[in-house]
Amino acid sequence: MAETAGAFLRIVDVVKEFGAYRAVDNVSLDIAKGEIFALLGPSGCGKSTLLRMLAGFETPTSGRILLNGQDLVGMPAFERPINMMFQSYALFPHLTVWENIAFGLKREGKPREQVAERVETVLKLVQLGKFAQRKPHQLSGGQQQRVALARSLAKQPQLLLLDEPLGALDKKLREQTQIELVNIVEQVGVTCVMVTHDQEEAMTMAGRIAVMKDGRFMQIGAPGELYETPHSRFVADFIGNVNLMEGTLDVDAADHCVIGCADVRHYVGHGITGTEGMAVTVALRPEKIVVGREPPPDTAHNAVQGTVKEKSYFGSFTVYHLALPSGAVLKASEANTERHRDEEVTWGDAVWASWSPSSHVVLTQ
Ligand SMILES: Nc1ncnc2c1ncn2[C@@H]1O[C@H](COP(=O)(O)OP(=O)(O)O)[C@@H](O)[C@H]1O
Ligand SMILES: [Mg+2]
Repeated sequence: MAETAGAFLRIVDVVKEFGAYRAVDNVSLDIAKGEIFALLGPSGCGKSTLLRMLAGFETPTSGRILLNGQDLVGMPAFERPINMMFQSYALFPHLTVWENIAFGLKREGKPREQVAERVETVLKLVQLGKFAQRKPHQLSGGQQQRVALARSLAKQPQLLLLDEPLGALDKKLREQTQIELVNIVEQVGVTCVMVTHDQEEAMTMAGRIAVMKDGRFMQIGAPGELYETPHSRFVADFIGNVNLMEGTLDVDAADHCVIGCADVRHYVGHGITGTEGMAVTVALRPEKIVVGREPPPDTAHNAVQGTVKEKSYFGSFTVYHLALPSGAVLKASEANTERHRDEEVTWGDAVWASWSPSSHVVLTQ
């Protein structure tokens, strides 16, 4: 991975072993000042372990971690200009909101007026000023989460670490809080590394994401890059919905390639500089597929006939599962841009699915 001059947080060849088990397997990453960065991956892939090494709760087996040019390895957690917010929030139940936020500042021996001023500032920031005298149990989950965030920001850390910050909230509240949290973090301008297993959460909140698997980084990029140009089956499948089709590279030219799969011949609008005859996987997102009763103009490529096996209505869009001749299932989604359609496609219908030459991602790993 290229190291960027002036990177604020630099993770270099970091390994963490627990006995014979490698939880984090040689990762490197540069994060710029003010970035909101997400570590995303399935449970057990090493996200929290990496975050805990940044915080100083775990020591790397090897590798270096630098913040603003300063080596953190060996520096105790409490000396690092870093704050970590946990999923459980870990608020003191017997203390008020105000006292919860003031706790760390008081322990540092800050003068009373300074503590009060700082508490007021962060309370205003998270818009909880009028709840200052409440106890945590008198607040909603979302409000508790904001108190935890206020407490994390009170000491003005240079790096804010969030481990599954919204895991305890239900879906609707989580979506709303994601945006609030990003707004607050951006207002403060603090560099932020968050951990989540929820791809939507990572996509909404982070400017860049590292997708992790088995302790390694599979790909690092902006949400749109990971979605539209995944480099592997794993990333294509982990981020969003996708149809993965195994096939053979039949033609590979400078400006196009043709891939033969069981049910369809794909005409892809770019070459892949591979070897003709090699096995490849075609990734095709459901929303790139058009479903209709009439055949498309060209049925030789990028088109297949299928039978509607499932139709799921999600309000803003509808998902079709089409049974293809080989028995494979193709997922296609359609935006419901109109309230009523003249020719509704429904269960059991024989339909055509088609897509454009710019829809595919061709994967070789
Ligand atoms: N203190 C520890 N001792 C032994 N194994 C651990 C310890 N902490 C984490 N692990 C293991 O390391 C792997 C990664 O854990 P973790 O970083 O918590 O994953 P994630 O946060 O991605 O779900 C898991 O297999 C976990 O069991
Ligand atoms: Mg975890």
